Amino acid sequence: MYQVIDGKKISQEIKDELREKAAAMKEQGIHRCLAVIQVGADPASSVYVRNKKKACEYVGIASLAYELPEETTEEELLRVIGELNKRKDVDGILVQLPLPAHIHEDRVLLAIAPEKDVDGFHPVSVGNLSIGRPGYVSCTPAGVIQLLKRSGISIEGKECVVLGRSNIVGKPMAMLLLRENGTVTVCHSRTENLREVTKRADILVVAVGRPKMVDESYVKDGAVVIDVGIHRNEDNKLCGDVDFDSVAPKTSYITPVPGGVGPMTIAMLMANCVRGMGE
Ligand code: GUN
Repeated sequence: MYQVIDGKKISQEIKDELREKAAAMKEQGIHRCLAVIQVGADPASSVYVRNKKKACEYVGIASLAYELPEETTEEELLRVIGELNKRKDVDGILVQLPLPAHIHEDRVLLAIAPEKDVDGFHPVSVGNLSIGRPGYVSCTPAGVIQLLKRSGISIEGKECVVLGRSNIVGKPMAMLLLRENGTVTVCHSRTENLREVTKRADILVVAVGRPKMVDESYVKDGAVVIDVGIHRNEDNKLCGDVDFDSVAPKTSYITPVPGGVGPMTIAMLMANCVRGMGE
């Protein structure tokens, strides 16, 4: 019988721990503040940004919201980031992605001071993670590690397969699993004999971005399956990259969509904001 990992419950536990920590810090005169910048009004981004503000209120950290119009130029956005970099009362800066097409995402991410890069997207943050130095870690992969640890699943020595190689999830996910002493393979849409690779996994993390692509033929008996994907299907229902109904009976643990990895991203953003770098 498999167990469904409850990301909502685990993310709530983390937010409650952070709320206590933030309250204790306030007693010592330390007040954290996150600046969230959204350019344009992409509806999905607006939902994420609203949820980030709500999480800040819950945990007890201040948030500054910058809702900039779609026509904002790259120079204007870089100027806002430059000012926030200098402000002593701002600890974290987050630019919601995706950005409008006329703005270069890489230049914007590079402009955020690494000491304030709570998303962990700056090349310095990515480099620090790769060589085991303290730094901010991208929130979704950090959330996957917490889901595993808090479910009592050990990573050390296990065959960990990451399906997907994005900068935001796949690559940092592989680095984090390696840091936890997993034996890590990264595979992707061009991998030959993909099922042979994913079937080696004791822990399979799927972040390939294709609705329900992973069915039971990709999964070894008793594997732990973590689904990072989130899509809306034909009936407007949320689904992941994993075909839950066919895969779940083969697993020992599996995350659902929604209610698995999703809620962990914001919890780990809050962790980055409260704890700062390297903790
Ligand atoms: N867009 C989708 N996910 C994310 C995220 O984790 N951070 C930011 N900044 N933008 C996103």
